[in-house]
Amino acid sequence: MERTFLMVKPDGVQRALIGEVVRRFEQKGFQLVGAKLMQITREQAEYHYAEHVGKPFYEGLVQFITSGPVFAMVWQGDRVIAISRTMMGKTDTLEAGPGTIRGDFAVHTNRNIIHGSDSPESAEREINNFFSSSELVDYSQVIQQWI
Ligand code: PPS
Repeated sequence: MERTFLMVKPDGVQRALIGEVVRRFEQKGFQLVGAKLMQITREQAEYHYAEHVGKPFYEGLVQFITSGPVFAMVWQGDRVIAISRTMMGKTDTLEAGPGTIRGDFAVHTNRNIIHGSDSPESAEREINNFFSSSELVDYSQVIQQWI
């Protein structure tokens, strides 16, 4: 089952959008595998955004993501990486369509509410950067009929 790393950024936490973001992914049909409210360290942020070193927005991005609590999550499901990127909307908030998380809630690209992995390789690296294996649950033994 494919997994992805999603994170409500400090602006989303401050604006009380954690529940809204979780609701969307739950209702889409994905499974939450791990989640925690956390303060990212400078080291974790530099590793997370390593591919953007040297870009004009890099330093501001690292400062922003370490400026307050984030809500880090691991989700799983069929094609969860690509579908969650569609649900998030485009990075540039001018292009993020209505109905997407950024389209509905974000005005500025540097305060765009949510991060999501863009490939299986990124997902694995990002999950390992923020979670230990003991923080992720296993649904394989869950009894299917609850009610
Ligand atoms: S790029 O240049 O195409 O690789 O950038 P992109 O992959 O779209 O975005 C990489 C992350 O940088 C954030 N970003 C910005 N932050 C601040 N200001 C500006 N102008 C800006 N442009 C991009 C963007 O939100 C991405 O962060 P994450 O956390 O991955 O969403």
